[in-house]
Amino acid sequence: MFLRNYWYVAAFSSELGAEPLARTILDQPVALFRTRSGVAAALEDRCAHRWMPLSKGTIDNELLVCCYHGVAFDRSGACARVPGSDQPPSTMTVRSYPTVERYGAVWIWMGEPKLADPAAILDCKLLDPAGSDCTRVYLHVKANYMFINDNLCDLLHVAFLHNAARKNSSSIGNTLMENGKLEVGQRGDRIFADWVWTDVPTPPTWRRLGNIGERADGWILSTFIAPSFLVNPIGFAEAGTGGIKSPRPEGRGKFSFTLYQCITPETERSTHFFKLMAHPGWTPEMAQQGIELIKTVNAEDIWAMELQQQALDRDPEAVMHAIPSDGGVIRMRRLMKRLFKEEAARTG
Ligand code: FES
Ligand SMILES: [Fe+2]
Repeated sequence: MFLRNYWYVAAFSSELGAEPLARTILDQPVALFRTRSGVAAALEDRCAHRWMPLSKGTIDNELLVCCYHGVAFDRSGACARVPGSDQPPSTMTVRSYPTVERYGAVWIWMGEPKLADPAAILDCKLLDPAGSDCTRVYLHVKANYMFINDNLCDLLHVAFLHNAARKNSSSIGNTLMENGKLEVGQRGDRIFADWVWTDVPTPPTWRRLGNIGERADGWILSTFIAPSFLVNPIGFAEAGTGGIKSPRPEGRGKFSFTLYQCITPETERSTHFFKLMAHPGWTPEMAQQGIELIKTVNAEDIWAMELQQQALDRDPEAVMHAIPSDGGVIRMRRLMKRLFKEEAARTG
C-alpha cells in the first residue's frame, strides 16, 4: 500500500545523463530522462506501440525514442514521431509524471497530476535549493518502506544495533545510551521523537571523528513527515559545552550534521533510500568520513530491516508488541493509517 499524492525522490539529478534511467517507483516502472534542453522528465516505462520499456531507448533532443520500432514521445507523453507516418496519432500516448528538480534530486509525483504542487516538496531548510552544498547517499533496501519509517522513529536502536560492543560495529552507540532522555510528541501531522544524552562516555566513532574527549553530550532528533520523510539532526559534542548548541568547531570537540531522509517505496518489499546531508562547517575530508559513517551505520540498519521483512513474509499475521520507547512509531503508524483512509476516500 502506498500513498500516491505526495512528492517522492525518484533519482539524484546526477543520475540523469546521456541514457534514460529505469526505476520502479510505487510499483510502477518509470523511464526517467533528461532532455537536451536540460529538463528532467518521467514517463511510464512502456511504449504505447508494443510495450517495449522506453528506458531501453535513446534520447533524441527533446524526445525519448523507443529502441524497438523508433516511435518517439515527448516529455508530456505525447507521441511525436512514428516511422512511416507524417501524423503521429494523438491517442497513442504514454503516461507522464510531474517532476521537479530541487536539492540535486529529481522529485516525482505519482498521484493525480492536478494536485502536484511543488510547494509541497519536503522543505530541506539547511540546503541550498540547487543542491550545491549537499552530500548525497543512495541505498537500496530489500524491505517495505514502513520498516525504515519505524527504524527512524525509534532511535533507541542506536544504543543496541549500533553498539560499540557488537562485532565490527559502526560504534556510534553504547548501552548506557538506553538511559538518555526521549521526548516524543506531535505538532499537526509532524511527529517528533528526540533523544538527548548528557555526559555519557563518548561512543568511539564520535570520539574519533569529532576529536571529542572521554565524555560527551549527544543528540539524535527525529521528525517524521508523511508519508516517508525524516529530518534528523545528529551529533555529539564535548560534555558540558552546550550539546547541539556547542560552539566547538566541527572535528574539534564536535561532530554533527542533519540528514534529510527521503524514502521512496520501490515495491511492497523493496525501497529506494535517498539521503541528503547538510553539514555546515565540515571540510571535504570530513564529508568523505561522513559518507563512510552513513554507509557503515546504515549497513547495520539494512541488515536488520531485511531480516524483519523476511519475518513478515513468513508470517504476515504475527503481532508486534510495543515497548515504552515506541511512542514515535505508534504515532507514525496511526497517522499513516489516517492518511491512507483520507487518500482512499478522495480517490474513491
Ligand atoms: S514497441 Fe516501441 S516502437 Fe514498437
Ligand atoms: Fe540505525
